[in-house]
Amino acid sequence: MKKQIAIAILVASLVLVSGCDRDRMSEKGFRLPEGDAVAGRETYLYMQCTQCHSIAGDESPDLPIDDPPYVELGGKVTRVKTYGELVTSIINPSHKLADGYAEELVSKNGESNMYNYNRLMTVQELVDIVMFLQPYYKVIPPDYEYRIYP
Ligand code: HEC
Repeated sequence: MKKQIAIAILVASLVLVSGCDRDRMSEKGFRLPEGDAVAGRETYLYMQCTQCHSIAGDESPDLPIDDPPYVELGGKVTRVKTYGELVTSIINPSHKLADGYAEELVSKNGESNMYNYNRLMTVQELVDIVMFLQPYYKVIPPDYEYRIYP
């Protein structure tokens, strides 16, 4: 019986410790300043995001590379693309790969094919690009199909 209690305490403390670790990595309280969309467009072109991206409803020039994955940014989404999600897509692209593409087209072994800009991009450039991109995402409520069974 004592042994069972000891095991229960051990398990409970392990759960607690891992819970604390999760808290420490929490994004709670994280907030970047607002950027400038006009400057963001400049940065987007200057950093040649257009090598692999087009933007729904925007006339940015295509600079095709040999084997582009061409991922469209913006367009119809079923829920708001948050600031946090866009920032994450740019500085930690492998965290969640873009929806709607075959994994083998946009990633290798779970790593996104997107360039890593983290050593090149300033925080200002990052927040400007996010402000530029966000309005291109248009939230459209999902079109549910109701099947009527006879
Ligand atoms: C070498 C090609 C390449 C370049 C250059 C590139 N990306 Fe990407 N990007 C990708 C691929 C592939 C994906 C899809 C996989 C993923 O989600 O990481 C992606 C995904 C994204 C997404 C998420 C899209 C979604 O619907 O979830 C955003 C936002 C994005 N890129 C922004 C940028 C910005 C901003 C730049 C320029 C600073 C850039 N990318 C440059 C290849 C590229």
